Amino acid sequence: MRTHYCGELDKEYIEQHVELCGWVNRRRDHGGVIFLDLRDKSGIVQIVINPEQKETFDIAENVRSEFVLKISGQVIARSESMINTKIPTGEIEVVASSIELLNSSKPIPFQIDATDTSEEVRLKYRYLDLRREEMQDKLRLRSKVTHYMRDFMDRNDFLDIETPFLTKATPEGARDYLVPSRTHPGEFFALPQSPQLFKQLLMMSGFERYYQIVKCFRDEDLRADRQPEFTQLDVETSFMNEKEIMAMMEDMTRGMFKSVINVELPSEYPVISYKDAMSLYGVDRPDMRIPLTMIDIDNLMLNVDFKVFSGPANDANSRVAAMKIPGGASISRKNIDKYTKYVSIYGAKGLAYIKLNEDGPASPILKFIGEDVTKKIIEITEAQTGDIIFFGADKLKIVNESLGNLREQIAKDMNLYQSDWAPIWVVDFPMFDSNSDGTLNAVHHPFTAPNVDQNTLKNNPIDALSRAYDLVINGSEVGGGSIRIHQSDMQQTVLEILGINDEEAQEKFGFLLNALDYGCPPHGGIAFGLDRLVMIMSNSDSIRDVIAFPKTQTAACLLTDAPAQVPRKILRELGIQSKK
Ligand code: AMO
Ligand code: AMP
Repeated sequence: MRTHYCGELDKEYIEQHVELCGWVNRRRDHGGVIFLDLRDKSGIVQIVINPEQKETFDIAENVRSEFVLKISGQVIARSESMINTKIPTGEIEVVASSIELLNSSKPIPFQIDATDTSEEVRLKYRYLDLRREEMQDKLRLRSKVTHYMRDFMDRNDFLDIETPFLTKATPEGARDYLVPSRTHPGEFFALPQSPQLFKQLLMMSGFERYYQIVKCFRDEDLRADRQPEFTQLDVETSFMNEKEIMAMMEDMTRGMFKSVINVELPSEYPVISYKDAMSLYGVDRPDMRIPLTMIDIDNLMLNVDFKVFSGPANDANSRVAAMKIPGGASISRKNIDKYTKYVSIYGAKGLAYIKLNEDGPASPILKFIGEDVTKKIIEITEAQTGDIIFFGADKLKIVNESLGNLREQIAKDMNLYQSDWAPIWVVDFPMFDSNSDGTLNAVHHPFTAPNVDQNTLKNNPIDALSRAYDLVINGSEVGGGSIRIHQSDMQQTVLEILGINDEEAQEKFGFLLNALDYGCPPHGGIAFGLDRLVMIMSNSDSIRDVIAFPKTQTAACLLTDAPAQVPRKILRELGIQSKK
């Protein structure tokens, strides 16, 4: 139907006859001459309709935003004063010789290129929202990313194999989405939280290198970087150790960043232990663009006459930490109050600070901790005049979360970033963490291999580290994986430690346990959160902006109104009764 795309026309095309198809982005009436901005997937070009072309002009007069047109005309140079340097086609325009109205449009609920449309409206009319250049760009970027991934995997001999969606629960720590079975009344499939068990089985089947770009389903509390259905680049390999897997995944991400957004990631990504990440940055996904660290000062606080600090300093499960912000003495009282409120979200009871002003240290806590201790704090943090030091004193979790998040907030507010891109591997995670009732949870998933032998693991599970690794970029956990357990007695030990007895284990994933007995190769893998990767690569604030049809914070789809009730007859067929 067309000879060219709108966005490709420039001076090279002057005097050529073109036929274009697209949507009316805007229509302007300029005293007798009508201008239309015609938009297609490639961009926008200006169409001019002169009143001398009576028939064409009559059509143009009735055209409104988002009408769909076919335009025939000639490309001409714009006069000097009409040149628009903001758009690629700004030096030319197309004089229409005919317009064919392909379709009209009702008045649209919001101007397509408006920036202040509420997200609710955008999601309800997602097909219109997706017409925006910004959204088109993001989904184009996403497509380039998946294309690069497939190409890389293919080049490296990985096989794309699909795994079932109607399956049994995969323990990744979230709730399952369930699908009732009509043919087995009272029974349910679970949608996979990940293809974890199947990809391990594929290693046992001898494929050695598997990948899949695959939907995963998790019924969990949603945040800005979480969706109930999201996409993983899922990878599994046999006969590769963690160093080899990590190196290969560095190659993949480096190549992808270079090829898709022209960003050079470092030739080797730094590696940090979970323990150091928590102690220095308070989180297991440190944003390494930010040059701020937490420093333990428990030793200095053991005997101060300030319970708020001496209490935690003398308690093994607590910590007192200091965080210096260079240039932070300029932070106003009002903003310190704002930050105090901010850390209270994480349970902090206050936010003590020392400002290093021209005339010396200033702080509400000086009188409690004394000159000597103040001096030592300044020494240990290497604070200079003009800096501020913030303090956290409480249970480990509270101090880590409050100062860890404060670190990111202040970096944002004061633009303290030292680089644009900072990938880092986090390794040496604990195998288990403990619930309040003393039972243990798998930190990764129960198939992750420990880095100690079976006896050591049995005797001291809480201190055992795993062979897991997470890839963090700019403070976002974009991928995680591990070497797996490939021996059935080790797998049994881990399940025992988790309090899963034989019967329960057989019922839940007996198929995997049985398969371990038939020559299972050493294997391991990783999964990347595709949505999160695209989110940071496209500099988006919300994961919803890089998904064509996302769900809201309450896991609903405003476009289709899903989830929805179903007729009682269907429920009856499924053997289900619904209670309000
Ligand atoms: P994990 O649970 O760490 O590992 O998931 C891998 C990556 O998926 C992304 N991700 C999410 N993205 C959006 N919304 C969510 N709700 C969500 N949950 C996770 C994250 C995360 O790093 N089977 C293992 C992988 C393995 O061991 O190979 C797994 O699923 O970016
Ligand atoms: P208070 O004696 O409670 O007025 O506290 C004195 C200073 O210590 C104030 O600046 C509080 O914000 C701060 N503060 C109180 N509790 C804590 C805590 N757990 N961690 C860090 N600072 C605190």
